[in-house]
Amino acid sequence: MSNYETITVERRGKVAVLTINRPDKLNALNKQVHTEGVAALEELRRDETIRVLVITGSGEKSFIAGADISEFQDQTPITQRDLFNEKTFFNSIDAFPKPVIAMVNGFCLGGGNELAMACDLRICSENARFAQPEINLGIMCGGGGTQRLTHLIGEGRSMEMVLTGDMIDAQTAEKIGLVNHVYSADKLEAKTMELAEKIAEKAPIALQLSKEAVKFASRSNLDEGLRREVDLFAICFSTEDKQEGVSAFLEKRKPVFKGR
Ligand code: COA
Repeated sequence: MSNYETITVERRGKVAVLTINRPDKLNALNKQVHTEGVAALEELRRDETIRVLVITGSGEKSFIAGADISEFQDQTPITQRDLFNEKTFFNSIDAFPKPVIAMVNGFCLGGGNELAMACDLRICSENARFAQPEINLGIMCGGGGTQRLTHLIGEGRSMEMVLTGDMIDAQTAEKIGLVNHVYSADKLEAKTMELAEKIAEKAPIALQLSKEAVKFASRSNLDEGLRREVDLFAICFSTEDKQEGVSAFLEKRKPVFKGR
């Protein structure tokens, strides 16, 4: 794995843990984090030993406190548009073929919440706080916030978060479906790794195709989605792992999936 300055990547068996490492800036996303994040995801995508990715923030206070506001000062409309039309960290996560879990260990604001929402699952600590506070800076969400938030929690709740910029706590985030589970800070990592390891034992191709099918649901209509699901389901029948999964069930043993 390459050496990065603003992120770290650790392999724990079949699970990779990518940590945004700017704790003195509450892990705010500057251009370098985007560039290094995109590069790291490309390496992890090609690494067949890695089956699940966990993304978190360094320190105990913050997951990601949003875009690095200091970089906004010199941005023109065109440079900002080019930056977000390029391959961003958000989009690379969204397109990452393996399951991605956001382990939200504190402030999850603006681009941080947008990044968490680009992940497949969100697990947070009781001290996590969520907001889209861009409105307080006289701007609006630009990393998918208005779109992914609305898909996840519905228009009324999304509108309230986007228009007020107010923070919500972890329990509220769980209640409205923004996060999957909340744990005390001391259990967050163990519980997240438990979930990641459970998913890492499943058949990788079936995981990838399942992700694609679920994501397609919010980007298409029901008829198109149902047809896509049938096609993806059929592709599973071309894999060795389908043979293994079915044989293991019939032979009353645990399957060993190889990603083929
Ligand atoms: N961009 C750049 N720097 C940021 C940042 C951001 N989004 N969020 C925090 N920081 C920096 C602070 O400037 C400060 O740096 P300094 O020590 O060099 O002054 C450091 O991180 C610690 O933050 P601080 O504000 O002192 O911590 P706090 O506990 O008082 O407040 C927050 C925490 C998260 C409430 C506050 O930092 C905040 O509101 N951040 C901005 C959140 C935001 O609007 N994000 C959306 C951006 S579009």
